Amino acid sequence: MALFAGRTTFAADRPLPSLVEKEGRYALFVDGAPYLVLGAQVNNSSAWPATMAQVWPAVKRIHANTVEMPVYWEQLEPEPGAFDYSVVDALIDQCRKNDVRLILLWFGTWKNGSPHYMPLWMRQDPVRFPLITGPTGQPVDSASPFGQETLAADKRAFAALLRHVRKVDARRTVIMVQVENEAGTWGAVRDYSPAAQRVFDGPVPAEVAKAMKTTAAGSWKQTFGKDADELFHAWAVARFIGEVAAAGKAEYALPLYVNAALRDPISPGPPGSYESGGPTDNVLGIWKAAAPAVDILAPDIYMNDDAKVQKVLEVYRRPDNALFVPEISNASEYARSFFSALGNQAIGFSPFGIDHTGFVNYPLGAKKVNEESLTPFALNYQLVEPAAREIARLNWEGKVKAVAERKGEAKRSMDFGAWRAEVSYGVEQFGFGNNPPGNPEPVGGALVAQLAADEFLVAGLHCRVDFQSGTSGKQRSYLRVEEGRYERGQFKASRIWNGDQTDWGLNLTSMPQVLRVKLYTLTSPGGAP
Ligand code: DGJ
Repeated sequence: MALFAGRTTFAADRPLPSLVEKEGRYALFVDGAPYLVLGAQVNNSSAWPATMAQVWPAVKRIHANTVEMPVYWEQLEPEPGAFDYSVVDALIDQCRKNDVRLILLWFGTWKNGSPHYMPLWMRQDPVRFPLITGPTGQPVDSASPFGQETLAADKRAFAALLRHVRKVDARRTVIMVQVENEAGTWGAVRDYSPAAQRVFDGPVPAEVAKAMKTTAAGSWKQTFGKDADELFHAWAVARFIGEVAAAGKAEYALPLYVNAALRDPISPGPPGSYESGGPTDNVLGIWKAAAPAVDILAPDIYMNDDAKVQKVLEVYRRPDNALFVPEISNASEYARSFFSALGNQAIGFSPFGIDHTGFVNYPLGAKKVNEESLTPFALNYQLVEPAAREIARLNWEGKVKAVAERKGEAKRSMDFGAWRAEVSYGVEQFGFGNNPPGNPEPVGGALVAQLAADEFLVAGLHCRVDFQSGTSGKQRSYLRVEEGRYERGQFKASRIWNGDQTDWGLNLTSMPQVLRVKLYTLTSPGGAP
C-alpha cells in the first residue's frame, strides 16, 4: 500500500491512450490494446447538456463506440483566465453513462477558418487578437497566425482543458483530442499584414526547405515562386497549432490530431479556391515539420467520387501519418467508404452530423437524419463490432484488406499470396455468379483478414466473397466456415456454414455476420496421373 501512498487516484489509472507505430502502420491503443474508432460526430452546436437527449438515440442507432464532440472556447473561458469546466464534465459523464469513448474537438482560434468560437472578450478586441489582412488591406474573417496574444491565449486555454481532463479522467473516457477545427483561412491565401510580410520577406526556415525537398535558399517568394503564399500560410498556421498542441500535451499526453478541409486531390484548382493554411495534401510535409506535437493530419471527406475518396485515403496514409477519418458526410452513399478506409489501415471513421437536433447539412450530408439515412452507417459498425479489437490489431499487423464497391466495378480481387479473395457484387446467392452485374446502387463492401496461412476472417455487406488458390491453381474447398464473434480475444462460433451457404462462395447480405474461414485445396490421393 505504501507504494501507492499519495497516488491513490493514479493507482487505478488505465494506460494512457496512445498511437503506436509498427513498420509504418499505426494502431490507436486504448486500455492497452488496439482500438477501432467507430465514431459519430455531433452537429456543431449539439455538445451541450441541453441537447444530449437528442444526441444519444442517433449515436446508439449507428452502434458507434466513440463520439466526437466540440469544446467551445467561448463557453470554456467566458472571462480571461476563468475557466468553466461544467460542460466538458457533463460530456464525459454522459459518455460514461452511454458506454462510449469521447474525442474532444477544440473549437479554438480556428473553426472552419473563422474565429467565431473565440470568447467575446477576444473577438471584441481586434487589436490584441488581430484578424488576417487580405492582399488589398481588407480584414478577413480569420485569425492571424501572427497574433502573439492570440497564440498565448489559445495555449493557455488548451493547456487548461487538457490539465482538467487529466485530472477527471483516470478512466480514459477521452481517447484523443482534435486541435482546432479545419484551421486555415477562406478569403485570402495568407496574411498580408506588415508583421506577416516581414516574416514572408525573411528566409525560409530550414525545416520547411527540407520538407519541400528544395535546396534553394532565400525569401519565401524567391524559394517557392507562385506557391510561396500558400506554403507560407501553411507553415504559419502549423507552427501556431504546433505550439498549442505542445502546450496541451505537456499537461496530458493524449494523441492529438488536426483535421483538414480538403482540396480536390486530383484536380485541385488554384490556391484560394480551397481553404488555405490547413493540412491539405500538398503541405503535409510542412505540417509534419512545423507541428511535431500533432500526431495525425486527418482528412474530412465530403467528396462523392470514388476516385477522389480513394486518392485522399492513399495520400493521408503515410509512414509518418496514421490514417484517421474524423469526418465524412452522413449521406448514405458515403457509408461504403468505411471499407476503403479500413483497407487503407484507418484507425477510425466518423460520419458527421449524427444527432436528432433537426439540423442537416444537405447537400454535403443527408437530407434528413432518420432511420433510412442512418441504417447504412449502422450496418458497418454492427458488422465489425463483434471483432473490432481484432480488426484493429490485424490491421496494425498489416493483415487486413478491405474494399468498397465502386460504380461500374462489379468484381475485385484481394491478393493474399497463396490465396486470392474474390469479391463480387449483385450476384444471386445460389449459383456460380460468373457475370456479376454489381448492385443497383454501389452499396457493397468487404473485409478479409488473414489469421493464419489458410485461415481468414471475413466480413462484408451486399457482396459475395469467395477464395481461389493464388498460386497452385488447385480448386479451393471450405474446410470449416464458422459464424461468430470475439469475446476477450477468443472467437466463439454460434453456427457452422456449410452446404448451400458455402458451395457458391460466402454470400453476405445486410445481416451483420463475421465468419472465420479455414481453406484447403483438393488434391487427388495419387497425385497427378
Ligand atoms: C466541416 C466542419 O469541420 C464541420 O464542423 C462542419 O462545419 C461541416 N464541415 C459542415 O457541416
